[in-house]
Amino acid sequence: MLLKNDIQALKYDKGTGELNNWLITETRFNPETLGKVEAVFSLGNGYMGLRSATEERYSKEVRGNFVAGTFNKFLGDKEVTELPNAADMTEMALTLNGETFQLTDGEILDFDRTLNLKDAELSRQIHWRSPSGDEYKLFFTRFVSLDNKHIIAQKVAITPLSRDLTLKLNSGINGQITNTGTQHFKEGVLRLYDQKIMKLEAHTTESNIDFAHFTRHEFTLENDTFTPKNTIFMDRRKIFTTFEPETIKKNETITIEKISGVYTSRDRDWENVDTALASFATVPNYDTLFQAHRKAWRTNIWEQYPIQIEGVDFDQLAIRFAVYHLTGMTPAHDNRMNIGAKGLSGEGYKGHAFWDTEIFVLPFFTTSNPKIARQLLEYRFLSIPGAVRKAAENNYEGAMFPWESAWLEDGEVTPVWGAADIITGEPTKIWSGFIEQHITADIAFAVWQYYQFTGDQDFMEKHGYELLFATAVFWQSRLEENSDHYEITGVVGPDEYKEHVDNNAFTNYMAHWNLEKAIHYYDLLLQENPALLEALSSKWDLRTNYRKWQEKSSKLYLPQPNSELVIPQDDTYLSKKIIDLTPYKEASQVGALFLEYNLDQVNDMQITKQADVMILLYLLENEFSPEVKQANWDYYEPKTLHDSSLSRATHSILASDLGDKELAYSMFEKASRIDLGQNMKSSDPGIHSASIGGIWQVVVNGFGGVRMLDGKLYLHPHLPEKWTALQFPIYWKGSRLLINVTKDTIKITNTSNNDVQLTLNGTEISILANTTFTNN
Ligand code: BGC
Repeated sequence: MLLKNDIQALKYDKGTGELNNWLITETRFNPETLGKVEAVFSLGNGYMGLRSATEERYSKEVRGNFVAGTFNKFLGDKEVTELPNAADMTEMALTLNGETFQLTDGEILDFDRTLNLKDAELSRQIHWRSPSGDEYKLFFTRFVSLDNKHIIAQKVAITPLSRDLTLKLNSGINGQITNTGTQHFKEGVLRLYDQKIMKLEAHTTESNIDFAHFTRHEFTLENDTFTPKNTIFMDRRKIFTTFEPETIKKNETITIEKISGVYTSRDRDWENVDTALASFATVPNYDTLFQAHRKAWRTNIWEQYPIQIEGVDFDQLAIRFAVYHLTGMTPAHDNRMNIGAKGLSGEGYKGHAFWDTEIFVLPFFTTSNPKIARQLLEYRFLSIPGAVRKAAENNYEGAMFPWESAWLEDGEVTPVWGAADIITGEPTKIWSGFIEQHITADIAFAVWQYYQFTGDQDFMEKHGYELLFATAVFWQSRLEENSDHYEITGVVGPDEYKEHVDNNAFTNYMAHWNLEKAIHYYDLLLQENPALLEALSSKWDLRTNYRKWQEKSSKLYLPQPNSELVIPQDDTYLSKKIIDLTPYKEASQVGALFLEYNLDQVNDMQITKQADVMILLYLLENEFSPEVKQANWDYYEPKTLHDSSLSRATHSILASDLGDKELAYSMFEKASRIDLGQNMKSSDPGIHSASIGGIWQVVVNGFGGVRMLDGKLYLHPHLPEKWTALQFPIYWKGSRLLINVTKDTIKITNTSNNDVQLTLNGTEISILANTTFTNN
């Protein structure tokens, strides 16, 4: 009984009691929409991310296992560095009484697949009738350990219901997996140890990273562990074993555990394959692993980020979903790595990091786990050499950060060619890698934001000041003189539907901000730490640059609100043609516009892909009046297609600021359904990291009303009508505050030994150390 596209395939309300708002359930198996569940239910621990492809294989599956920071580049100019898809260790091909277990055959009598966010465990229960009419119950579970980052654990319990079972299991390690056809690995040693542990070694072709994959199986029948008859076989990049246990009696349950591990020479504690094997050999069984994994999630994640929404169950689940994926996507263990735009959940965007990290994801860590935020910023610091190279290649100075980043030393890795142009039939050129330059200021902004929230002077001295100065050196070299002022021409702003524009407001304002901050901190260091300034000066020629910053920053053209208070997105935007966007705004598929127009045509119309002027109004919010914000919302939102998942969260926060709770909430509803909603195609290439970070920002900065302005903390909550309570933690200068908002009270608990000053709804207050403040 296979159902066609079931648009209500995902359910959010299956969890009850302790698991209320913790479970996402797929209730119908649909072989046409595998990608959505593979990505949305993907498991990860920041070291690796595993798409939730099923144990048995289907033609439309996309299996994926990505180990953070293990980039490789395939031969040829058309290829760019990407995160390779490591060998698959999750396949378990079952033959039940001579019939292949496949849900596309026979009949599914009962089915659900559930992601338990609390325990970060995936389960699948099936009652299956085979084509010949035999019935079986199967129960699969798996997790990617948060306690031992190398480990994937799987378990399947099979109960024959119609007659005794002759079972055959084919399972092992499959290195024939590719990235949509590109094989990133050279073949390595295959080996079976002690009739138990299978090993597949592989080496990336260009970056020469050693990968060691191991797997082992354990069989239990009604509590007794046994070793079934088994036959090993090896093929190119593949090692598998066929297991054939003795007959299993009707109604008895056989349980098979498959424990797998991946280790690479990128690991900081890597020695060699043998030490990796020795470490894998000590890994305990599923249940013991699971206890440690569950404890790690409870202690390190859910107790650390006790974020609660009362009033709308889905919203509570959505914010947990965000925290779940923010944890899974972030390589918190290694500052040489960053967050991919699709996390570790798919091949989309090749594992590259974008401004998505600094502007959309980082605020979560800056305010909730500053240690991880610092590491992510250290990645940028460590990649300054690549940024300097990019600047030099473009005849600029300082650090010009790549639009897309992979290895620290790579510099720019944005692919040059993209989707088909429906008019010319040629691939569209992706200009972002050449001229989407605002990322350099976005990184500087995130450094400053981190510093303001944390007061981490050590970070500033080791990395932060240098990042602020090196980026400002770039901007002064980038500005173009035009009679009495400076400008920035020929860029792509956040709105990627406008290419080669002059004076994109967001870019100009952010560059100006970057220059001003560099001037400020230069002055400060001159007073407070001249030795450090001297060291940085000799590296970046700061004395000369300082003069240039002062001269150019004051003359940089900043597009001003016009008579209708609208800030021109760029020099020509407001004079372009306006068309009715209703059909495209209502389309279920992103990019619907490009079925009718090509990018050149869209370039000539007032159509915006995503928040552009609007994100400027959010990031530099105290530079613009409420009237200007409102006028720009009214002008740009109708022209914005929200074709990037980054867009709605920003709009929701601005709507909150503008006091339109309903609009803010409806934008949030859409943002929180980008991955989680019922569009069964929205996440095929992976989840949307920035959107997920954006959901957290909507809840905490939008509805929670948390802001840092000019180095001070502000709190001005505006709960949506439907919410009765909101609770979240934030760190401010090392002190942890737990904020609890209801319709009529605000409670702030300061669990630190320092008093904290903040402005609550316009009034400055002080929350004394280890006390709770209540406002009602
Ligand atoms: C957006 C960018 C974003 C990128 C990666 C693009 O579609 O326009 O702003 O950085 O996706 O998420």
